[in-house]
Amino acid sequence: MRKKLVAGNWKMHKNLTESQALITEIRGIVRDEFRQNDAEIVVCPSALALASSARLVEGSEIQIGAQNVNENKEGAYTGEWSASMLKSAGATHVIIGHSERRQYYNETSEACALKNKAAIAEELTVLYCVGESLEERESNQHFDVIKDQLEKGLEGISSEEMSHVVIAYEPVWAIGTGKTASSEQAQEVHAFIRGLIESKYGLNIAESVRILYGGSVKPDNAKEIFGQPDIDGGLIGGASLKPRDFFEIIKAAR
Ligand code: PGA
Repeated sequence: MRKKLVAGNWKMHKNLTESQALITEIRGIVRDEFRQNDAEIVVCPSALALASSARLVEGSEIQIGAQNVNENKEGAYTGEWSASMLKSAGATHVIIGHSERRQYYNETSEACALKNKAAIAEELTVLYCVGESLEERESNQHFDVIKDQLEKGLEGISSEEMSHVVIAYEPVWAIGTGKTASSEQAQEVHAFIRGLIESKYGLNIAESVRILYGGSVKPDNAKEIFGQPDIDGGLIGGASLKPRDFFEIIKAAR
């Protein structure tokens, strides 16, 4: 049985004070309402707020993730942060290959593979994102695009290391647009991804890897999406900034 996982991606929202207030509010709801066996919870604030957020959730069910990492161990890379820095700040997870990073910062799947390796070497769990654009979906190229992103991004990741990998399928056309993939469309892609993992790593690993769906997940559509056999939770953008909505989505994974 795969344990569901719900991760909140705050993107570039909330200054330090606001981040502390938001994580404190989420922590309060989780403390009062979390049930044993509920989904695993990860919150990904800005890098600036990582360390203080990690301190504020100590002893709770909430884990902290980063939104990016540099592929190098250390060195002259102004403006960057390494996996060991993230770990020392209290992060246990890191989002890699989010479509916004692919689109605005020219991150390729090859670059993501190096980031995935660097993060796993520090025992961080990666949330590796894949997903097609609207144009690719409309021209029926989505399976090829996802296969390419997955194969290149997981290049060099061993079977053992796959226990530190979570995949997030996020169709670009559904991110922040209010449009979600239908649960059938999402399930179809999730099953396809699991099949690709099976052909590379075998059945056991394919059955244990969690594949999250992301793109306009809200309290009112989460239950149906999470009810699909190959959907193991969600990566939540906008709704993760609203503590009550975020927790309703966590509950929908029950
Ligand atoms: P959204 O973002 O939930 O606001 O669509 C999802 C994401 O980008 O991870």
